Amino acid sequence: MKARIAGVGSKIPEKIVTNNDLTKTVDTSDEWIKTRTGIAERRVSDEKTATSDLAIAAAQKALASAKISPEEIDLIIVGTTSPDYLFPSIACILQNKLGAKNAAAFDVSAACSGFNYALTVGSNFIENKTYKNVLVVGADTLTKYLDWHDRGTCILFGDGAGAVVLTAADDGSGILASWLKAEGHLGHHLIMPGGGSRDPEEKKGRFITMDGKEVFKFAVRVLEESIAEVLKKANIELKDVNLFIPHQANIRIIDHVAKKMGLPKEKVYVNLQKYGNTSAASIPLALDEALADGKIKNNDIIVLSGFGAGLTCGANVIKWRI
Ligand code: ACO
Repeated sequence: MKARIAGVGSKIPEKIVTNNDLTKTVDTSDEWIKTRTGIAERRVSDEKTATSDLAIAAAQKALASAKISPEEIDLIIVGTTSPDYLFPSIACILQNKLGAKNAAAFDVSAACSGFNYALTVGSNFIENKTYKNVLVVGADTLTKYLDWHDRGTCILFGDGAGAVVLTAADDGSGILASWLKAEGHLGHHLIMPGGGSRDPEEKKGRFITMDGKEVFKFAVRVLEESIAEVLKKANIELKDVNLFIPHQANIRIIDHVAKKMGLPKEKVYVNLQKYGNTSAASIPLALDEALADGKIKNNDIIVLSGFGAGLTCGANVIKWRI
């Protein structure tokens, strides 16, 4: 028994912030941001929109595309590091608002790897036959946690949500293998120091702080490692993969790994120029767009690979059938 993706949906906020807009608050330029990251613009949620609002819209689209009713969902898992509250979880907010009255629900905290982590957990519940239908969401509004005067971070992030419905399949399709990793000793390179139980009054600030160079080094190393390891587990060769969907953080990270591994450009999906780094939403958002662009067809082999705070990394290889 495997977990097959039966439906996909995504949601982005309407407001676009361009690189030129950012030059009003920090010493940067459109050219610098495009050359060093590939990002041209990002979506930023307004103050009335919380992460769950984007997550619900994405989840409703995924349920509609899977033709599965909320009552049929057995479990909801949300990968996020910008929940509406410390508790209840976004998954429980979704369970209530979607009317998924038969579902258990919890969030997974693995930052930009959150979707791959949540997908792996969800697929295991299906493979071991505990559940039949699992809703997996990646959603973040990290722009709410940016210091808009820190040019090392505020240029990178955007908001969004993406969702998939996993359902039991025994026809050889679905998630063939998963691979997860954590390197907690590097966690200090990407951290939000304030707001947790170590600093509940947020004296240290509730802003993302990052050593970009260290995260870059980690990213290129583990992106390659995760793709190689997950394919080894699935017993699939690199050349047999039809589409790679890497975490959309920086085009230089993606290009570096693609070049090193010899991945043809047309097999690597990139949409970060429009959205920046949307954290846990980045991979399901790209998956939804790749599907809409006609880049994925039945029986294709797809690799999803993400990395992020923790530091964490995760990958899934899928034989596509929808
Ligand atoms: N505009 C103009 N100049 C800038 C900017 C900016 N926005 N930011 C930095 N600079 C300057 C620096 O001050 C430095 O100037 P100096 O040489 O005079 O000291 C110069 O540009 C080069 O700076 P670097 O930090 O070396 O730039 P780099 O090429 O490393 O790019 C970046 C920085 C884009 C942050 C890159 O390191 C990166 O993308 N790292 C990975 C980050 C990432 O992916 N994080 C998300 C992880 S996922 C998650 O879980 C949230």
